[in-house]
Amino acid sequence: MARAKEKSAYVCQECGADFPKWAGRCTECNAWNSLTEIRLPSTATSHTTGPAGVSGYAGGNPQITLLSEVRISETPRETTGLDELDRVLGGGLVEGSVILIGGDPGIGKSTLLLQTLLLLQSRMPCLYVTGEESLQQVALRAQRLDADMQGKQGQLTLMSETSVEAILAHCARQLPRLLVVDSIQTLHTEGLTAAPGSVSQLREGTAQLVRFAKRHEVTIFIVGHVTKEGALAGPRVLEHMVDTVLYFEGDPGARFRVIRAVKNRFGAANEIGVFAMTDRGLKPVSNPSAIFLSRHEQPVPGSVITVTREGTRPLLVEVQALVAEHPGGNPKRLTVGLDQNRLAMLLAVLHRHGQIALYDQDVFLNVVGGVRVTETAADLPSLIAILSSFRDRPLPDGLIVFGEVGLAGEIRPVTGGQERLFEAAKHGFTHAIVPKANLPARPIEGLSITAVSHINQALDLL
Ligand code: TYD
Ligand code: MG
Repeated sequence: MARAKEKSAYVCQECGADFPKWAGRCTECNAWNSLTEIRLPSTATSHTTGPAGVSGYAGGNPQITLLSEVRISETPRETTGLDELDRVLGGGLVEGSVILIGGDPGIGKSTLLLQTLLLLQSRMPCLYVTGEESLQQVALRAQRLDADMQGKQGQLTLMSETSVEAILAHCARQLPRLLVVDSIQTLHTEGLTAAPGSVSQLREGTAQLVRFAKRHEVTIFIVGHVTKEGALAGPRVLEHMVDTVLYFEGDPGARFRVIRAVKNRFGAANEIGVFAMTDRGLKPVSNPSAIFLSRHEQPVPGSVITVTREGTRPLLVEVQALVAEHPGGNPKRLTVGLDQNRLAMLLAVLHRHGQIALYDQDVFLNVVGGVRVTETAADLPSLIAILSSFRDRPLPDGLIVFGEVGLAGEIRPVTGGQERLFEAAKHGFTHAIVPKANLPARPIEGLSITAVSHINQALDLL
């Protein structure tokens, strides 16, 4: 048999795309000089019978079954003991699943996973692999945690290791049922020459972990840091390989931390969990609906409260706008916690259908508390906040607003309107501006509701 020729591929270190040939520029993301060579391990099947792709069809014993005959076993879920984590996971941990947990450095990934392991280790063998911190640092963190977790440190095993092969060799012998790898950026696989943290190492390391998880039914948490440049080369390239992707949102200095499931094969995507960072670790916040509201002594211009439904819970958040005159061309349009393109669209709608032009004004839009609002219900409140700042006129106390804005200037309904209104009434709001189609069938006690169907009606109200 002829010796299999070693093959190479070229992987872009920016976006993770791979190519059979080297080039100076990645055709996917247009980054210059980002392709590096990786050697593909020569496969066991011989390549003598033609190109690799063709001979690849020859081997293996594929399993073929009728769909109706596939046995479905109940996916048993293990609750982690942290309600908010269970919630984003879709009800608890699923055996053999791989969960990627990403976020800025210092936001609490290691803390959360250490707590989870301490809570679970009496029920299942757990292993915490640290490639980033020393064992002492992990122990010090554990010491800070709650007193009721102090007693649980006896059984948890730690491992300081960065070689994927070494980690998996150990796991194959000891078989933990829950494995935490902190972090994927520090791991390296022996088959590759690229530096730890490079896209090819991230992908290969993750692929090996995923294979191991599926074969041995081990649940694996993979920690990934989000890079400052916006996460392209970071954990994003791994999202399609794992079952669940959780991201920490918010700023590491703030008290509350939001974890969002951006992908979940075993639960609803976009579900959020809320934690408070205390001096004794992360504490779940089971009723977060009003924690993101800042209390102003007096109404301020540019501030509007809205009710969003991130995941399955209504959440009251404050949208703030600042409109400031911009000398010269190219005014700024910046958002924090909202979609920037959406802001551009809202300004165009305001110009075209509301006859209010802001092309000589900088417009900044912010959601208070570091939460991200991904749904369109924030359109109308954003628009009203912008106008309130532009005219320097505060909105009345006790007002909440929600609704989607269409390109024709129409106000479209959003899901769960009634539920949002109930939530607002519960927190003492007295007036609501909502899309006409969201008008509830029966009045809600304590809340006077104004329905609008076009932005002009909303603008007239102000
Ligand atoms: P860490 O979990 O190490 O974040 P990551 O792994 O995402 O980089 O650290 C979270 C931050 O929280 C760190 O700055 C220290 C702080 N912290 C607390 O405020 N209270 C605590 O009980 C612990 C353990 C950490
Ligand atoms: Mg960490």
